[in-house]
Amino acid sequence: MSKKILVLPGDGIGPEITAEAVKVLDACRAAGLDAELDEGLVGGAGYDAEGHPLPESTLAKAKAADAILLGAVGGPKWDTLEDLSKRPEKGLLGLRKNLNLFANLRPALLYPQLAEASTLKPEVVSGLDIMIVRELTGGIYFGQPRGIETRNGERVGYNTYVYSESEIERIGRVAFEMAQKRGGKLCSVDKANVLEVTILWREVMNRLAPEYPDVELSHMYVDNAAMQLVRAPKQFDVVVTGNMFGDILSDAAAMLTGSIGMLPSASLNERQQGMYEPCHGSAPDIAGQGLANPLATILSVAMMLRYSLGESALAERIERAVGQVLDAGLRTADIAYPGTRQVSTVEMGDAVVAAFANA
Ligand code: IPM
Ligand code: MG
Repeated sequence: MSKKILVLPGDGIGPEITAEAVKVLDACRAAGLDAELDEGLVGGAGYDAEGHPLPESTLAKAKAADAILLGAVGGPKWDTLEDLSKRPEKGLLGLRKNLNLFANLRPALLYPQLAEASTLKPEVVSGLDIMIVRELTGGIYFGQPRGIETRNGERVGYNTYVYSESEIERIGRVAFEMAQKRGGKLCSVDKANVLEVTILWREVMNRLAPEYPDVELSHMYVDNAAMQLVRAPKQFDVVVTGNMFGDILSDAAAMLTGSIGMLPSASLNERQQGMYEPCHGSAPDIAGQGLANPLATILSVAMMLRYSLGESALAERIERAVGQVLDAGLRTADIAYPGTRQVSTVEMGDAVVAAFANA
């Protein structure tokens, strides 16, 4: 049966980068992928057109899709919206929550061709290959109660950092299984020296460990993990952590690879339905100028083929095509350095499609 893919371009550079990723999807369809594409509005684009960052029609299409490709949401135009529930980011969070996309996979892989683009020394990052498994539908992002209210004559803001054992266990299992398929090492990141919620987190991870004897489990406090990521990142294989720590650490890990413009992500639920998006944001400052790097979105298509569409061979072909384009010295502005050829967003997308034909 034909698979359904929903494309949600979103805001800022979102439309430009998803357009290039759709070209790659079309090339996959020409190569035999049986899939139908549909489009929807999300984020600021949803708010402007329908008064809500996650319009009903978009949510309905998303629920019916096998996979969703999302560009990026947000921008200064909507940052001053008083009603927080109408902010573009709520569109993204609503999709994650409504589709129960609890497992966020964020690989930080250094392409050898980009070792020079990293702000860290090449010897510190060359060969880097980390998979961050971030819990995505719980923790402080969604915990209740939350709000801003007046207490004793002054305003107080509060959020709740909460995880149930079952939430920890299901993300833990995803991470252990990921470690089994990779280098057999799993580092669980918490703040168990201060926060009860992560004392429980650590307990549950330890309880699961004997079921995965081929995985070596370790624990690290989040502050130390942030330091280790920039000091000696190659010590990590799979990292598992909660929603907020994962948000922060995955940005840091992204920069190790030269540019956040290279990093794809997958957000999966229990039935492998997934939303695929670049790790970076909507970059409104460079929108519409052909400067954005479409590779993270294109590599997100590869993850989609692998995790939701059962098409690993096509996924590998896309990844090889990206490698070849980098080998040829093509670079968007974010990863360009002397000796390489700077190309636009569209030129980069076209080059990947051309390489895909023979990859
Ligand atoms: C991310 C982003 C989002 C998050 C924002 C846009 C809500 O930073 O996907 O990492 O915090 O999860
Ligand atoms: Mg983030």
